[in-house]
Amino acid sequence: MNVYILGIESSCDDTSAAVLLNNQLLSNEIANQALHAKYGGVVPEWASRAHLQNMIPVVDTALQKANISISDISAIAFTAGPGLLGSLLVGHSFAKAAAYALGIPLIGVDHLQAHILSHFIKNEKNTYPKFPFLCLLVSGGHTQIMRVNHFFDMKIIGTTIDDAAGETFDKAAKILGFPYPGGPLIDTCAKEGNPHAFVFNQANIAAYDYSFSGLKTSFLYFLRDQLKNNPNFIQENKANLCASIQHAICNSLMRKLIKAADDLNIQEIAIAGGVSANSALQERLKSIALKKNWNIYIPPLQLSTDNAAMIGIVGYYKFLHKDFSSINVIPFTRNKF
Ligand code: KG4
Ligand code: ZN
Repeated sequence: MNVYILGIESSCDDTSAAVLLNNQLLSNEIANQALHAKYGGVVPEWASRAHLQNMIPVVDTALQKANISISDISAIAFTAGPGLLGSLLVGHSFAKAAAYALGIPLIGVDHLQAHILSHFIKNEKNTYPKFPFLCLLVSGGHTQIMRVNHFFDMKIIGTTIDDAAGETFDKAAKILGFPYPGGPLIDTCAKEGNPHAFVFNQANIAAYDYSFSGLKTSFLYFLRDQLKNNPNFIQENKANLCASIQHAICNSLMRKLIKAADDLNIQEIAIAGGVSANSALQERLKSIALKKNWNIYIPPLQLSTDNAAMIGIVGYYKFLHKDFSSINVIPFTRNKF
C-alpha cells in the first residue's frame, strides 16, 4: 500500500511542509524567519504572523517538489505541541481545514517524539536505531535523555532542571554579540579556537539530569570581570570563548549520556534536535562510540533542526496504527512526557 503523508510543522519560528511516500522523504520545505535575528530570540506574535504568510506557499512548493497533487495525499500530520500557542494554531488550523476539505485523516504529532523518530526516515544505508535505544534530545527548548523502547513507547530518564542546551548556546552567543539563533555561529567560530583556553563551571547534579543556568552565569560573570580590565576582551578572544563554552556544554551533555548508557547497558545511541547539528558534539560522540562500541545515529543537518519531514514520519507510523486525531484537538504548549 502506498501512503502519502503531508507533514506540517509550525511550533516555533520555522514554517515547514514535507511529503513522504511511506517512510521515504519526497520533499521537505522550510521557510526560516530571519526577522527574529536582531531581537535575540523569537518574538511570538511575529512568528505566528509569518506562519500565516508562509504556510500556503510552503505547502505548495512541497507538493510540487514531490511531484504530486494535494488530492493524492492519504493523511495530514501536523505538530500538535509543544510550542508557541500562536504558531501551533496556524498549523492546527491549516491541517484541520485541509483534512476536512479532502475527507482524509488528521494526525496530531508530538514535536519531541518527532525529533527522535526522524531517525526512521528512509536513508541510503538503510540503517535505523534498534530498540531499545537512548536518544539525547537537544534543542532550543529541551534537553533530555530518552529511553526509546518502541516507536510510541519512550520515557524521559534525564532532563534539564533549568535551561536547555540550545538556549545556553543562544544566550552565550548573545553575550558575545552574535544574532539569534547563535548556536550555529558559535559552532563555526569555535573551529578557530582552543576549547581549553577558559574553564567554566559545569553543574554536577543527580542521576541523568542536567543544569545549565550555573554555566551561563559563570560565563556572564567571567566576561563582566574581563571587560572591566580590557574592553576589547571579547573581540580579542572570540574564537577561544566560543570553543570553551561549546566544550563545557558538550562535555556536560556527554557525561550524563555515557553514564546512562553504561548503567542501562544500552549501546544503541542517537542524538536529535537542533543542537545535534553541533560539530563538536558529533565529534565527541563519534570518539566515545569507538571506545564504547556504540552504534550511533546522527541526523543529517536538514533533519536535526525543526522540519516537517520528522512530523511526516510519525504521521506515517500513526497512520499504520489508525491513530487519528479528532477535528476538536487543541494545541498543547508544554511537554507531555
Ligand atoms: O530543534 P530546533 O530547531 O528547535 C527547537 O525545537 O528548539 O533547535 C534550535 C536550537 C537553537 O537553540 C540553535 O541555536 C541550536 O538548536 N543549534 C545549534 C546548532 N544548530 C542549531 N547549536 C549548536 N551548534 C549548532 N551547529
Ligand atoms: Zn524542535
